[in-house]
Amino acid sequence: MKFFLDTANVNDIKRICELGVVDGVTTNPSLIAKEGTDFHERIKEISEIVSGPISAEVISLDHQGMIKEARELVQISANIVVKIPMTREGLKAVKTLAKEGVKTNVTLVFSVNQALLAAKAGASYVSPFVGRLEDIGHSGKELISEIVKVFDTYLLETEIIVASIRNVNHVKEAMLLGAHIATIPPNIIEQMIQHPLTDKGVSAFLEDWEKSKL
Ligand code: E4P
Repeated sequence: MKFFLDTANVNDIKRICELGVVDGVTTNPSLIAKEGTDFHERIKEISEIVSGPISAEVISLDHQGMIKEARELVQISANIVVKIPMTREGLKAVKTLAKEGVKTNVTLVFSVNQALLAAKAGASYVSPFVGRLEDIGHSGKELISEIVKVFDTYLLETEIIVASIRNVNHVKEAMLLGAHIATIPPNIIEQMIQHPLTDKGVSAFLEDWEKSKL
C-alpha cells in the first residue's frame, strides 16, 4: 500500500519525507489557500522534493477550462497528476486528458457509482472522501469496501486513494480493505508512529542498560 501526504506545506513534506514513507502528495485548493503562496510555484516546489505523483487540482467548472488548466499544470513537472472534480464536466475532461496521456485523480467521490464512472472515463486515480462522508452519518468504510470490490471484479486499473482521512483508524481500515493508497495529513502520520508500549519499552531498555553498568 502506498502513502501520499495530504498537504501543501513544504516543511511538513520535508519532515515526513525524512521518514522514508512518502510515495506521493495530494493537494487541493483549500490546502493551497492555507499556505498563502502562488499555486504553480508551490506545486513546483513540492515536485522538486517528492518524485512520486503530485496531485494538483483544477478550479474551472467547465471541461474546456479544466483541460486548459490541466495542460498548464503538467508542464510544471513530469510527476503532476491533475485533480478533477467528479462532475459531468469533470468526466468529459478526464476522457480527453486520458487520450493525451495526462494522469488524473478524480476527487470528491462519495459513491461507488461515481468511482466506476470515473474509472470508465479513464481516471488514473479516484479519491473517495471517507471523513466528509462520515460527517454526514454515512459509512466511509462501506464505500471503500464497495469500490475495492467493484474495481477488483472488473479488473479496473484505476487506483483508489482513500482521502479525507481524519484519524489513524481511517488509515488502518484503508489498508485492511485493500485500497491502493491512503492520502494522509502529516499529523496523522505522526500519530501512526506512536504507541505507549513502544515508549515504555524504550525507557525500560535504557534503564536496564544503565543499571547493568553499576
Ligand atoms: C485529498 O485528496 C482531499 O482533497 C483531502 O483528503 C480532503 O480532506 P478533508 O475532507 O479533510 O478536507
